[in-house]
Amino acid sequence: MPNSLTMESVPNQRDNKSDSFAPSTALTYLDPHYWDERFSEEEHYEWFKDYTHFRHLILQHIPRSSSVLEVGCGNSQLSDEMYKDGIKNITCTDLSPIAVDKVQKRLSSKGYKEIKAMVADMLDLPFGDETFDVIIEKGTMDVLFVDSGDPWNPNPVTISKVKAMLQGIHRVLKPDGLFISISFGQGTQSLSTRPPSESVALPSICLFQEELEGEDYLFRTSIDEMEDG
Ligand SMILES: C[S@@+](CC[C@H](N)C(=O)[O-])C[C@H]1O[C@@H](n2cnc3c(N)ncnc32)[C@H](O)[C@@H]1O
Repeated sequence: MPNSLTMESVPNQRDNKSDSFAPSTALTYLDPHYWDERFSEEEHYEWFKDYTHFRHLILQHIPRSSSVLEVGCGNSQLSDEMYKDGIKNITCTDLSPIAVDKVQKRLSSKGYKEIKAMVADMLDLPFGDETFDVIIEKGTMDVLFVDSGDPWNPNPVTISKVKAMLQGIHRVLKPDGLFISISFGQGTQSLSTRPPSESVALPSICLFQEELEGEDYLFRTSIDEMEDG
């Protein structure tokens, strides 16, 4: 995967003002302090695209009664938008306590009481097995890829973190659950489609990608296809 999060300067939302927060190197995205500082100043930013661009796909695949976990919500309003569409059993999580605090205040001011917000590390999800019907992330797994190195010989640390994330997601998803990953790049796909002789020990995942407006992809992962890693 290319360092997709270097793409922050690509205009994606007219009201997004990201340039003042863009770090000098993409590696900074791995630093939790960066996110805390950013979220202390920035009120709203949507990575890649906002909900309107993939709403039709979300509503097609997430029944309104689903329990939904959002991983790495930042200050996105993805959950607010899903809530407005009737998906109310949502848990928003992020590693940044500042982001979570602001999300809680925002949701409370809107009266969206059913949405929970809490600090959680996507590499060590603090939920019981088989808790959620759906897990969604937008641009969060991409953070792990900023130091992935050569796509044909990825950094072992990156592989180990991606495995931890996917295994945790697999664990807390119900058996027929759905993981939706909205990503700029093609990180897990590039790793999982390596020639068999060079394959890495990632969980087996079936990825489907849909092209959105010629530049973005929505990966739909059937957890039924996923084996214990
Ligand atoms: C590129 S931003 C995406 C934010 C939001 N999902 C969006 O679409 O605008 C990445 C987010 O991942 C969060 N993050 C980074 N490492 C994390 C981790 N280990 N666990 C949970 N969240 C993490 C950051 O705090 C940040 O909010």
